[in-house]
Amino acid sequence: MAPAALYLNQTLLACSKERESRVYHPNKTHLNSRVLIIGGTGRVGGSTATALSKLCPHLQIVVGGRNREKGAALVATLGKNCEFAEVDIENVKALEAALNGVDLVVHTAGPFQQAEKCTVLEAAIATKTAYVDVCDDTSYAWRAKSLHKKAVAANIPAITTGGIYPGVSNVMAAELVRSAKSESKYEPERLRFSYYTAGSGGAGPTILATSFLLLGEDVVAYNKGEKVKLKPFSGVLNVDFGKGIGKKDVYLLNLPEVRSAHEVLGVPTISARFGTSPFFWNWGMEAMTSLFPAEFLRDRSKVQQLVQLFDPSVRAIDAIAGERVSMRVDLECSNGRHTVGIFSHRRLSVSVGTATAAFVLAVLEGNTEPGVWFPEEPEGIAIEAREVLLNRAAQGTINFIMNKSPWMYKHVEFSPSASLSGTITGFESCNIDQMDCRSHLLVGRLIILLRK
Ligand SMILES: NC(=O)c1ccc[n+]([C@@H]2O[C@H](COP(=O)([O-])OP(=O)(O)OC[C@H]3O[C@@H](n4cnc5c(N)ncnc54)[C@H](OP(=O)(O)O)[C@@H]3O)[C@@H](O)[C@H]2O)c1
Repeated sequence: MAPAALYLNQTLLACSKERESRVYHPNKTHLNSRVLIIGGTGRVGGSTATALSKLCPHLQIVVGGRNREKGAALVATLGKNCEFAEVDIENVKALEAALNGVDLVVHTAGPFQQAEKCTVLEAAIATKTAYVDVCDDTSYAWRAKSLHKKAVAANIPAITTGGIYPGVSNVMAAELVRSAKSESKYEPERLRFSYYTAGSGGAGPTILATSFLLLGEDVVAYNKGEKVKLKPFSGVLNVDFGKGIGKKDVYLLNLPEVRSAHEVLGVPTISARFGTSPFFWNWGMEAMTSLFPAEFLRDRSKVQQLVQLFDPSVRAIDAIAGERVSMRVDLECSNGRHTVGIFSHRRLSVSVGTATAAFVLAVLEGNTEPGVWFPEEPEGIAIEAREVLLNRAAQGTINFIMNKSPWMYKHVEFSPSASLSGTITGFESCNIDQMDCRSHLLVGRLIILLRK
């Protein structure tokens, strides 16, 4: 049985009756909906357009971007229901004009880090157009959330932080929490998001900029209900991502799903980590947080210069590293109950589009209330629609499991070289100095390597 189908049988059975009555099966109107993908000439936007045209061939897809040539090339591969529209999100009038006659707009024109306004969401509200973004920045996501009342007044459904991670990972977390609460009287205590992507994941230059900009941000995590600020790319853990991926080092990053899951799901201890390969990319990212001042890494124009410098080597190494992606979500409860969800795919560039398309279809199918929502909010993706969303998003995965006990996958642990730090099992039980020690240890290793 396919892993996705296995999950389908194991979870959400309890709400199958509700599901029948609430999930909106696409009718002709929804099949013919017009969807504008801004940033459609980029990797995530292009992949979303491709996935949507495969999942729902009758949708009218408009690829929006600034580069007509790139747009025309993509449209030619997508068939007769697709067209290109020239859109610059900095031009509000042109943006609103482009939204006329559109049922839903997907915003993939990052980077979202250090962006001053939510121009696309504001235009969606002004033109009463449904909205999904793939934002991966905490400040941007909460600025989007602050437009909630306006979206309610305009009667439009909007999802912020859709996509694969954040996005599908938030829904996985929500499902683990829902399942734990329905099966036991004990409360969820600790949630951990771990992500791995080989190379740059076949992503565009914007992702590189995103990664560098994130290195300039303190990491916000929660420890027993208290907000803590930690050093970016510190607190390494060696996490077992299971079949097809194996064990990988992951490091703390400031990601929006930490705060949204804390506030929406009410779990007191939450953190998110990310790691890449080859290993020296991780060391390089760690070194950057120590070598560059945070102000430098928060400056979009300076980061763009860094991107131009690094992009050719990143592309060259991508050709060898591949673009496997894996997400692991761990939930621990007060009674010792520990459950895990894992989602792994050979190609991030394909999977991110499939995941984003799954959010688009969920909204078009009527599963989102008016307002601006995070994926884990039941008004954002109705509980009974989560199964459909996860199964759609999981198409093509090499491993997709939900609600498994950790004995199937070894508990996360520090890599052997971290034994200097004692028996720490996570940032939640160690202090920041200890993590800095480990961080400096690795930077030291990098310098020795460079000297050689
Ligand atoms: N949530 C998730 O799961 C997830 C996963 C991966 C990535 N992301 C986010 O997705 C974003 C896109 O990543 P990517 O790899 O697709 O980057 P990319 O390949 O560089 O694509 C970005 C696209 O945005 C367009 N764009 C930039 N500024 C624009 C503007 N002012 N008006 C209109 N279009 C504009 C670019 O078009 P031009 O050709 O005109 O420059 C380009 O096509 C990033 O911010 C990344 O962090 C989220």
